[in-house]
Amino acid sequence: MMKNYILPSLLVFVFVMSSCGFDATKYYTPALVNAEKANVALEQLVAGRTAYIENCKDCHRLFKPSKNTAEKWNKEVNRMQERAKISNEQKANIISYLSSEISQ
Ligand code: HEC
Repeated sequence: MMKNYILPSLLVFVFVMSSCGFDATKYYTPALVNAEKANVALEQLVAGRTAYIENCKDCHRLFKPSKNTAEKWNKEVNRMQERAKISNEQKANIISYLSSEISQ
């Protein structure tokens, strides 16, 4: 009996996940190596990732961090600060996170 619910539930789950465009694997999870390379605390990158996912997805999809250079992210996030209503600290964390992805 229970088996009959598994497939429909799975389909609903997949539909919900894809309709909001959220794919956590695209927004890399920072590790110590990224923090050391960027010369910032790991906590700052982790906070930046959370702030990015929470504040930047309302109007468009979230872009992959490796899409832009650090210089470009700096420009873009500054441009988006007012729209996203984020503090200077959140902005700095988001820029650090987006700029810190390195190929491992
Ligand atoms: C209130 C809506 C809104 C929020 C919130 C928002 N954006 Fe945007 N964003 C836009 C719009 C509209 C555009 C397209 C027009 C433009 O580039 O100004 C855009 C464009 C961009 C672009 C350029 C896209 C491209 O393909 O060149 C980047 C990068 C970006 N946003 C990043 C962010 C980040 C990072 C945040 C969170 C700090 C954020 N956005 C939050 C509305 C928003």
